Amino acid sequence: MDIRFAERPPPEAPLLAVGMWRDGRPTPALAALDAGGGIMAAVAHSRFRGGEGEVLALAVPPGLAAGRVLLVGLGVESAFDDARAARLGGAVMAAALEAGGQRLSVCLDLDGNAAAHLALGMSLRLWRPPPDLRSRPAEDEWEPPEEVVIAAADPAAAAASWRRLDHLADGVLLARDLVAEPGNRLGPEDFADHALALPGLGCEVDILDEDAIGEEGLGLLAAVGRGSARPPRLVTVSWSGGGADAPVTALVGKGITFDTGGISLKRGDDMWEMKADMAGAAACLGAVRALAGMAAPVNVAAVLPLAENMPAGGAMRPGDVLYSCSGRTVEVTDTDAEGRLVLADAIAWAGARLAPARIIDIATLTGAVVTALGRHRAGLFTADNALAERLLRAGEAVDEPLWRLPLSDAHDEALTSEVADLRNAAWGRVPDALHAARFLQHFVPPRVAWAHLDIAGTALAEEDWALGPKGPTGFGVRLLAAACGAV
Ligand code: BES
Ligand code: MN
Ligand code: ZN
Repeated sequence: MDIRFAERPPPEAPLLAVGMWRDGRPTPALAALDAGGGIMAAVAHSRFRGGEGEVLALAVPPGLAAGRVLLVGLGVESAFDDARAARLGGAVMAAALEAGGQRLSVCLDLDGNAAAHLALGMSLRLWRPPPDLRSRPAEDEWEPPEEVVIAAADPAAAAASWRRLDHLADGVLLARDLVAEPGNRLGPEDFADHALALPGLGCEVDILDEDAIGEEGLGLLAAVGRGSARPPRLVTVSWSGGGADAPVTALVGKGITFDTGGISLKRGDDMWEMKADMAGAAACLGAVRALAGMAAPVNVAAVLPLAENMPAGGAMRPGDVLYSCSGRTVEVTDTDAEGRLVLADAIAWAGARLAPARIIDIATLTGAVVTALGRHRAGLFTADNALAERLLRAGEAVDEPLWRLPLSDAHDEALTSEVADLRNAAWGRVPDALHAARFLQHFVPPRVAWAHLDIAGTALAEEDWALGPKGPTGFGVRLLAAACGAV
């Protein structure tokens, strides 16, 4: 799909999107198109009110410029922002796919920046699971429009803004592609290959195999990986656009390519969703890809502990005691609490090897956070108020909202082991998002700002939504890129 910007898109486009505000006011493009008043008369006889994201498809009488018109509700004018523009792009794209057609003109009378965010929303809404998972196209398969022309007051500014956002879209789409991969096609090594295949954007990729993981003392990651025939990896992808003296942000992403629970086996229902248990790692990779593509003047490193949590002969057992990279020992009381194990090692390793100023980890970590926050907000844990503020603000700006949850030493008692320094899960299977966060905090090096994001509820959408279909959302890519100052 080719996206262009123009002051006045081709009026003869067979599909034309125009906008109306929630108070019933048409934007100038709609007013110009509807000189005879026929469209507004049709609106008066419909349920269309101009609320954000409402779309009314009209076949306009011959003589009017376009073949078909998509009337798009823009919502209330006062609070219009980039995130809304992106959502509107998603709504236009969903309606355009429904309507069919190869050429689409979008005339919502937006400024250049908003027009670029509209394009971002349109690209994201187009995402589909990898097509090669089917032998023939699905029956309801949609054809994306070949050409989209978006009206912008300043087309050059819109195009410049879109050149950056296009990279952001690529980062989100990469993350979704990875999350959509079934476990049989994406083990730790396959994920590492995807990192290596990042096109020449100037990133440095470094991969530790199972032997190197052992040599580096990453005993927790090694133990989680041992239950699988497919060995673990630790992948680091660095982008150093900020120069040698700029602080490094380490993005640590949980990369469990499939989580059976291990010997503490999960129940069968919904276990398939655990192919998405690497969504944190995918988000980090997508964010670094986006930042590198934009040539952002920042230093970031994605640190991705990758393993498959399986119950085969080499698997860790409940009661095992493991040596972590930080030197602390951990008693495994539940092998299904594997995410915090691999993250703990990766956080300590990143702290020791990369000298980061801050570490942000992101993980599909606990079912409890889904119960607590639902599917639209991710959990944020941090002791650093400035970092909290930065992440909360980034989340609101890009529509990937967070909710801060407590991080407290009150949970240490529940993490106390009879035999080792720590245990990995509280008593039995209790809701333990807060315990998991506190567990991780024990592995953060002193004087490093750290935040933990629990995205168990937001990595997969249960229904079609503004910026994508049901399935992988890519949650975290835009948030992390924004938190690193790029959007
Ligand atoms: N990957 C799961 C968490 C998860 C659950 C993600 C649902 C997405 C949707 C994690 O490894 C896990 O199994 N957590 C357990 C921890 C418990 C055993 C202490 C959980 O939350 O039930
Ligand atoms: Mn688990
Ligand atoms: Zn898991």
